[in-house]
Amino acid sequence: MNNFSFCNPVKIIFGKDSISKIATELPTNAKVLMLYGGGSIKKNGVYSQVTKALGDRVFLEFGAIEANPRFETCMKAVALIKEQSIDYLLAVGGGSVLDATKFISAASCYQGTEAWDIIAKELPLTKALPFGAVLTLPATGSEMNSGAVITRESTKDKLAFNSPLVFPQFSVLDPSVTFSLPSRQVANGIIDTFVHVVEQYLTDANDAPLQDYFAESILQVLFEEGPKALTDPNNYEVRANLMWASTWALNGWIACGVKQDWATHIIGHEITALYELDHAQTLAIILPGVMKVMKKHKGKKIQQMGKRIFGIQAANEEEQIAQTINAVEAFFNSLGVKTRLGEYGIEEKVCAEVAERIKLRGWKLGEHGDITSETVAEILAGRM
Ligand code: NZQ
Ligand code: ZN
Repeated sequence: MNNFSFCNPVKIIFGKDSISKIATELPTNAKVLMLYGGGSIKKNGVYSQVTKALGDRVFLEFGAIEANPRFETCMKAVALIKEQSIDYLLAVGGGSVLDATKFISAASCYQGTEAWDIIAKELPLTKALPFGAVLTLPATGSEMNSGAVITRESTKDKLAFNSPLVFPQFSVLDPSVTFSLPSRQVANGIIDTFVHVVEQYLTDANDAPLQDYFAESILQVLFEEGPKALTDPNNYEVRANLMWASTWALNGWIACGVKQDWATHIIGHEITALYELDHAQTLAIILPGVMKVMKKHKGKKIQQMGKRIFGIQAANEEEQIAQTINAVEAFFNSLGVKTRLGEYGIEEKVCAEVAERIKLRGWKLGEHGDITSETVAEILAGRM
């Protein structure tokens, strides 16, 4: 085990009909801004549950936060917050709304002239507005972490930032609000969660069996329960198990004491920024490529994963690795998600485009910092 420090202050309120409980979490005298996305919450009853729970509080609304939230949109919310002296935010939606709210909470208190620097220059925050969340899409773990990913439309940069000041104060997780998710988003959520675990698990073998078993338990739940959410979409228990799994995949716990990769995510963000693929769609394409190209570091763990998650017992190590990578790709395909760039009509030039962006940013990715722009091009070339 490596050394680590771990702190997660988010209060989780989980279960059926739990949205009403925000009434006791929000300060009574707060002036609240409720933030949401493109309107799904108005169709599935979440909006009316939240507004009912807000009761007599003074609150304003800011909707139309897009998937892969834009800096430009966030700054409109910041202007509203300053104009209206808002002092508490309530995010109601999926990872995009939660991430946007985190950035808005930071940018509203930022004293400099260019709020994008919070992300681009990784400025340490000194202040952020408090906020709570009502999660409607299990996938990102944003409800229990302090990270956010924001896209700047004008430059097509999709970048992450992190600060302990942007942990939600509380997050409400009612699995029944996920019944209304389209199957594309259900599959996205399973794959995003799966890859979050893998980024913290599929590295060099660490001598950290507790972390391994914990990570594997999340993968196992996804593998067993994930397909049921597509075939039996009104099964509350399945939805509840998936929601809890996605929260745990990225709340910091499975990262304790182990190496982390994140190359699949970083390459994926570039593809979303350039080609507008959903976040999880990019991960389903890239992960098998990272596993293949980086097997020199990941080989042992790939074999372990093959054995423990997919029940693979091949004749030799090479075969065990190859069959496990195939099993991962087959799992993604079984959820109805494509795993090749060409299937989205993306052409070969993407390899050079993404590699060039990684090079310009001076990034070396992976748990060993040895995934260069050339390696990125190789990974993508294998995913056409
Ligand atoms: O916008 P609305 O109308 O609400 O519709 C959304 C959106 O179209 C819809 N949706 C959400 N809940 C629903 C629903 N539709 C019906 N019923 C419901 N209950 O789903 C669509 C996608 O929503 P979005 O929030 O974009 O999806 P997701 O939760 O997958 O978030 C993706 C974003 O999170 C970032 C991604 O990069 C991407 O920008 N990530 C954030 C992370 C974090 N903060 O830790 C880590 C992740 O790796 C990821 O990078
Ligand atoms: Zn992700």
